Amino acid sequence: MAAVTPEIRKQVQDLRQLVQKAGYHYYVLDDPILEDAVYDQLYRQLQDLEAQYPELVTSDSPTQRVGDRPATQFTSVRHAIPLYSLENAFNAGELQTWQERWQRLAPDAAAEYICELKIDGSAIALTYEQGLLVRGATRGDGEMGEEITQNLRTIRSIPLRLALENPPPIVEVRGEAFLPLDSFRQINQERSQAGEALFANPRNAAAGTLRQLDSRIVARRKLDFFAYTLHLGRDQNAHTLMNSQKEALDLLVRMGFRVNPNRVLCPSLAAVQTYCDRWSTDRMELPYLTDGVVIKLNSLALQERLGFTQKFPRWAIAFKYPAEEAPTQIDQIVVQVGRTGALTPVAEFKPVQLAGTTVTRATLHNRDRILELDLHLGDTVIVRKAGEIIPEVVRVLPELRPAGAVPYTMPTHCPECGQPVVQPVGEAVTRCVNSSCPAILRGSLIHWASRDALDINGVGEKLVQQLVDRNLVRSVADLYDLTVERLLTLERMGQKSAEKIVGAIAQSKTQPWARVLYGLGIRHVGTVNAQTLADQFPSSAQLAQAAADQIAAVYGIGPEIAQAVFEWFRVPANQELMQRLQAAGLQLAGETKPIAPPTSQPLAGKTFVVTGTLPTLKRDEAEDLIRQAGGKVTGSVSAKTSYVVVGENAGSKLEKAEALGIPQLSEAELLDLLQGS
Ligand code: IVH
Repeated sequence: MAAVTPEIRKQVQDLRQLVQKAGYHYYVLDDPILEDAVYDQLYRQLQDLEAQYPELVTSDSPTQRVGDRPATQFTSVRHAIPLYSLENAFNAGELQTWQERWQRLAPDAAAEYICELKIDGSAIALTYEQGLLVRGATRGDGEMGEEITQNLRTIRSIPLRLALENPPPIVEVRGEAFLPLDSFRQINQERSQAGEALFANPRNAAAGTLRQLDSRIVARRKLDFFAYTLHLGRDQNAHTLMNSQKEALDLLVRMGFRVNPNRVLCPSLAAVQTYCDRWSTDRMELPYLTDGVVIKLNSLALQERLGFTQKFPRWAIAFKYPAEEAPTQIDQIVVQVGRTGALTPVAEFKPVQLAGTTVTRATLHNRDRILELDLHLGDTVIVRKAGEIIPEVVRVLPELRPAGAVPYTMPTHCPECGQPVVQPVGEAVTRCVNSSCPAILRGSLIHWASRDALDINGVGEKLVQQLVDRNLVRSVADLYDLTVERLLTLERMGQKSAEKIVGAIAQSKTQPWARVLYGLGIRHVGTVNAQTLADQFPSSAQLAQAAADQIAAVYGIGPEIAQAVFEWFRVPANQELMQRLQAAGLQLAGETKPIAPPTSQPLAGKTFVVTGTLPTLKRDEAEDLIRQAGGKVTGSVSAKTSYVVVGENAGSKLEKAEALGIPQLSEAELLDLLQGS
């Protein structure tokens, strides 16, 4: 081991401080001070130096966020101070009743409130001793939670060390861990590509992620954290540091936490109501989900005086926005078979308006969910859809059940191929395991031809349906035996189109090994895992021969993924497929071209705000186009905004953009920019 000199010690300290500071500016303040590439290089330098001089590693070093060893289980911890939940109010009257109730107990006290947004994630408790993060836990039942320190350390906006000169010896911070909508979309996209069940909403995704045993997976999911309460140990002279919730939040900011900026002091309940009204619509523009407003009495002395009921603090209440739910009657339940053979029941019902869209169908997920709902044919159900949430059936109204209605049961045979389905022990999924099931084959072909896989233009749903129906294709490899003549036997197929398709299929042989691997549709292998595996196993032969633990040894590949890959290569039909693909001339080794992000990124590095009604595009369509072109979309205008895209009836955002002198674009100008012109 190399000897540590004072110079080296200082170099490591300085570097660590700079990397820490740059991380804080990036993740907490959302205001970077270093270019990404520079940050990455400095980070790596720090990593190298720490590897060379392990005695210089400290637990709060930015390199120490991700553990390298998955946990086997979580341990229960008792919260030093219980985590209470909040009473709900659904309208102005209920807020008024709450005010009257606490005023009866403290008639002399001033009604000064602080309003904060209610973030829709998972409540988390963090403990700092002598300024260092020593423990993080889930809320659990409020008394006992699960210790998930290793996972919480991966959240870059949670400081590993408090940014105070002389921190109180014990500090407890509570807040909400949540998944920003962008990350939620990305995770679900990856899960869908990998044939995995989707998370129904960002809250479930955040909670599921926090309970991941492998912190490397957590680190990839980009959770974020807003702090909202602060407890200083009893032996503290706490009141010299904070006397109100506002001061507590400001102190949390000084400690290095992200605190939601949309907090406002309100001198009366009328002001509270104005805040609630304003955010009932403005919250739609935020890059994360909120489900209400938390209203707290600002004075900590008053909070202490009022105390708690059995369940709730008397000094706080949650104003909840109406959930986007509606009742409707089920017409029928159809069962879809995916490319992994999983049977997904989907409820089709009378159209309902939810979250601004007409919804006619909602997933019922699987057999367990149907049993849990106790769903009968003809039932009236409550359907929910909010923001990004995939429409779902929340519950049944048994009171409205038609006489003689029978419980719905999953089919015993695949609706596509008629073969018996299996119900793997311990799993909720019902699966068709017939490898020649046309639905599985269709799904596999569409996946193979999809943009992130072999990217074969012209091979879409319609063509695949015909190819499978006419028995022209029985496996992915058969695509490479298709000829123009054979394609011409299909309905409405012309010479030109047939030539194009055959050309596109031939062209796909030049796609790199990582894409081929992704295209195989092995469970859990989305684009990211496929690239990681292809980097480590530069040929299919090497991957096919690798033992499960060798595959799992790859950074970022968990044991479940490794097992799925290992098993896939043990199936004789898959081995035969690989041989045929090899013979057809596909790239099963080396890297000719990395997985390319969408062809060009003309808006990279630019931040956009879209406001008002655009002439042809819906707002989320415009935002998606911007993101696809590498741009960033935010909900509010700031000095960092590069352009504001302005439609009709643009309000305060346009005013702010004008005040800040930010360039404005019409929809047409945006489209020009997207063309790269
Ligand atoms: S204060 C005793 N503030 O809402 C104080 N909670 O039912 C209790 N939440 O479990 C919490 N944003 O997970 C508070 N700004 C905020 C919050 C917030 C979200 C969650 C929290 C809690 C639930 C209340």
